[in-house]
Amino acid sequence: MSTITVELPDESAVLVRKFADSEGVTVSDFARSAILEKIEDSFDLQELHEAISEDNGERFSIDEVLEELLARPNHRGVFYRPERQNLQELTGKAAEAHFEALYSKGTMTSLTTERLALRPPHDGDEDAVFSIHSDPRTYQHRPELAMKNRDEAFELLAAWQRNWAEDGIGYFVVFREPAEIIGFTGLRFSEEQGQKVLNLYYRFAPEAQGRGYAAEAAAAAIDWARQTHPERPVVAIIDPSNAPSARLAEKLGLHLQTADHEQGHLYRR
Ligand SMILES: CC(C)(COP(=O)(O)OP(=O)(O)OC[C@H]1O[C@@H](n2cnc3c(N)ncnc32)[C@H](O)[C@@H]1OP(=O)(O)O)[C@@H](O)C(=O)NCCC(=O)NCCS
Repeated sequence: MSTITVELPDESAVLVRKFADSEGVTVSDFARSAILEKIEDSFDLQELHEAISEDNGERFSIDEVLEELLARPNHRGVFYRPERQNLQELTGKAAEAHFEALYSKGTMTSLTTERLALRPPHDGDEDAVFSIHSDPRTYQHRPELAMKNRDEAFELLAAWQRNWAEDGIGYFVVFREPAEIIGFTGLRFSEEQGQKVLNLYYRFAPEAQGRGYAAEAAAAAIDWARQTHPERPVVAIIDPSNAPSARLAEKLGLHLQTADHEQGHLYRR
């Protein structure tokens, strides 16, 4: 620490001591923070003056700013959202505006049911993706497929986001109000036996299973997808030993079409 001596008129010195006392700090602490704040303020002011002098009068709307941010793919090739770093900078209102812009453009859709809310996945969902997909109870029939590390969750989330960005349809994150993520369900574009189809997916947290949530959420997703893509049949490929999944598919109106699909039984509606 260096010592700087400040000379003050007696009256001002009394004032400084009184003020420091009332703030509960030493005169030295008070003087140090006051001087540094003053310097910081003048740097800010200098930057503001420079920005004003360089202003060429061009103005951008919030949509243009968002477009500029959205136009860049992130390191995983996802186009429709800002880079992770930018998203962190886009806090509060700006982040809300970003998602609102996507919803209002019709790029993304959210759904509600009696007990649940469904929305497309976005940054920050990787914890829920990992926790549900790494739980061996959600892969009882294919334990080797359970996630081992968080990178896999980031990759899966990016792939889901890409589906929405490219096709305007994909898998939803399912919430039980107010904000608990209980699972994932939805449909994405796929091809089976040369035909364009909607592939149905569902995976729910073990704690949330057995209460009809999966059926409620998947039914809403199917209804919406059928309205937007009536020409595409809905299919699900199910491991023959996965009784809950097969039962759920049937409950949703799908029927076993072929038992010799390379990845399991093919259900269709
Ligand atoms: C498949 C899954 C989403 C079903 O979730 P869920 O919470 O049991 O679903 P619901 O409560 O909506 O119940 C759906 C139907 O399945 C039935 N079901 C649930 N567990 C069952 C079981 N072990 N055996 C037979 N039927 C079962 C329910 O009884 C219900 O039918 P009902 O209304 O006629 O009684 C859930 O088991 C899961 O996430 N599994 C792991 C992921 C997975 O296997 N995904 C499918 C990949 S192909």
